[in-house]
Amino acid sequence: MKAGNNGNTSPPVIKAVGLSKRFGETEVVRDIAFGVLPGQCVGLLGPNGAGKTTTIRMILGQSPLTSGELMVFGRCVPEHASWVRRRTGVVPQHDDLDPDFTLAENLRVYASYFDLAADSIETRIYELFEFVNLSDRAHSRVDQLSGGMRRRLTIARALVNDPELIVLDEPTTGLDPQARHMIWARLRDLKKAGKTLLLTTHYMEEAERLCDDLLIIDHGKIIAQGSPQDLIRQYVEPEVVELRNLDPALQRQLADGGQCRTEAVGDTLFFYTRDSGPLTQRLQNLPGLSFLHRPANLEDVFLNMTGRELRE
Ligand SMILES: Nc1ncnc2c1ncn2[C@@H]1O[C@H](COP(=O)(O)OP(=O)(O)O)[C@@H](O)[C@H]1O
Ligand SMILES: [Mg+2]
Repeated sequence: MKAGNNGNTSPPVIKAVGLSKRFGETEVVRDIAFGVLPGQCVGLLGPNGAGKTTTIRMILGQSPLTSGELMVFGRCVPEHASWVRRRTGVVPQHDDLDPDFTLAENLRVYASYFDLAADSIETRIYELFEFVNLSDRAHSRVDQLSGGMRRRLTIARALVNDPELIVLDEPTTGLDPQARHMIWARLRDLKKAGKTLLLTTHYMEEAERLCDDLLIIDHGKIIAQGSPQDLIRQYVEPEVVELRNLDPALQRQLADGGQCRTEAVGDTLFFYTRDSGPLTQRLQNLPGLSFLHRPANLEDVFLNMTGRELRE
């Protein structure tokens, strides 16, 4: 297992060894091992159906393991799941807020599941509304909220018990860029406050900005692990040149990329290379052609490793 960031040698908050999950005949999590160190933000990336939510549900003790070993805060799960859940905040993939209640009532009901001093609950709830910019909506009903507000409320709810570990399953899926950036800022605040975060996301930009360590999962297996920069260094060429709207004859002519690995996707041709000089020179000599030259990013790694086939 990797030591993680900053030479952190503290015992892991989450440790999974040989973790597997089978539904009937289908093994959806297959012998995975990973660790999450205190204060780290670890991201699970993977196409739909990869096994991310199932892994999270096992960590939270909501779904029994088929085999393997799972320790959270040094205790075995699911045996110690209720102890673990008291120290953990959860943002589930699908909101399960009560639509008929106000925001404040939702948090109050949730707070009542924890052993919190009654006189501190109200203060805590209003601090959390401040934190997620929902103070002026505290007495609105949940069914009047936008998707971004609902997600922020779910994050506030996850923090009611002041958890050490926060697990977020696709916290920003379907949100507009403003809402997403706001949530990123709050997650960075939580990291600065020393919280440990485990999140899943389909947004590579989110993973790149927030996560210290990433696990790319496909068909229930970890197929790559490392920091965003490690993964980019390890699994793709550093430079990418993209050409769009090519006519098929020119696409065929250019697809023999010389020193470059090429990939044609629809009307776009991607060149992956360690030295784009000869290629860009060649392209500049072709009249009327415009191209995009950029550094490789995490999305290139992800598509390279999991393929471009649609997963529904
Ligand atoms: N309760 C269940 N019973 C049967 N199959 C399930 C159940 N939950 C998830 N699956 C299947 O397990 C696979 C992984 O699902 P999931 O963990 O939700 O993936 P992800 O969160 O990565 O999209 C999928 O093929 C899904 O259909
Ligand atoms: Mg999921």
